[in-house]
Amino acid sequence: MAHPERSSLPKHVAIIMDGNGRWAQSHGMTRTAGHRKGMEVVREIVRAASDFGVGYLTLFAFSSENWRRPETEVRDLLGLLKLFIRRDLSELHRDNVRIRVIGERNNLRSDLLPLLIEAEETTRNNTGLTLVIAFNYGSRDEMARAMVSIARDVADGRLRCEDITPGLIDSRLDTAGIPDPDLIIRTSGEERLSNFLLWQAAYSELMFVNDLWPDFNRAMFCAALEKFAMRERRFGGLSAAQAAVGS
Ligand code: IPE
Ligand code: IPE
Ligand code: MG
Repeated sequence: MAHPERSSLPKHVAIIMDGNGRWAQSHGMTRTAGHRKGMEVVREIVRAASDFGVGYLTLFAFSSENWRRPETEVRDLLGLLKLFIRRDLSELHRDNVRIRVIGERNNLRSDLLPLLIEAEETTRNNTGLTLVIAFNYGSRDEMARAMVSIARDVADGRLRCEDITPGLIDSRLDTAGIPDPDLIIRTSGEERLSNFLLWQAAYSELMFVNDLWPDFNRAMFCAALEKFAMRERRFGGLSAAQAAVGS
């Protein structure tokens, strides 16, 4: 299996895993069967990211807006996350994967929260791939919580207004300590961020692929990394070629 060039690998890849429902529908299956198939793809892509030497892989597993779905689908999605951690935690730990969970934790089901904490605690000192699971995650919710924590510190005199810098805001987000995503991939042909990493995506390269998430695989992931390597990132400055021409 081909390996992307290491020197130009994105340090952090984030994925909006979309299209499970459409995949299931096109195969005459229930939406839950689509999510189950999507879970198998999660395993394959985590392994690929780890093999390729990607530093951070963030997977959008459940958004703060996904509670709007029918109760049965929500229940099945939460059940699948539990199953994933129960079944895969020991193997991920053995593979030196460090797990981080981002998203709102208050009011999470009491059977779920301890599992998420266990996954983080068990793998805390691992030094391989950091797998960031975005669960009950929404960017606006994350930013609002960060603002509340900053406002509280200002009100209590622990911070001055002038201390509020982009760096301070970074440090109050769920993603504190995690570099911004270099590449955000969304499957299923939809071209939107759906409240995912809005602050952190300021300079991310965006890639929209038409395949539905259950059809996504290691080779497609590798192709996305290779395409990323061809992109020119400027961060507001000039490319080397432009700078050489002068003004
Ligand atoms: C993505 O697939 C999985 C989650 C949002 C949890 P969808 O369930 O959104 O699939 P589509 O978009 O309906 O096809
Ligand atoms: C985004 O997909 C959330 C996840 C992949 C978990 P959605 O399917 O919920 O997004 P919208 O509703 O199409 O924007
Ligand atoms: Mg969707």
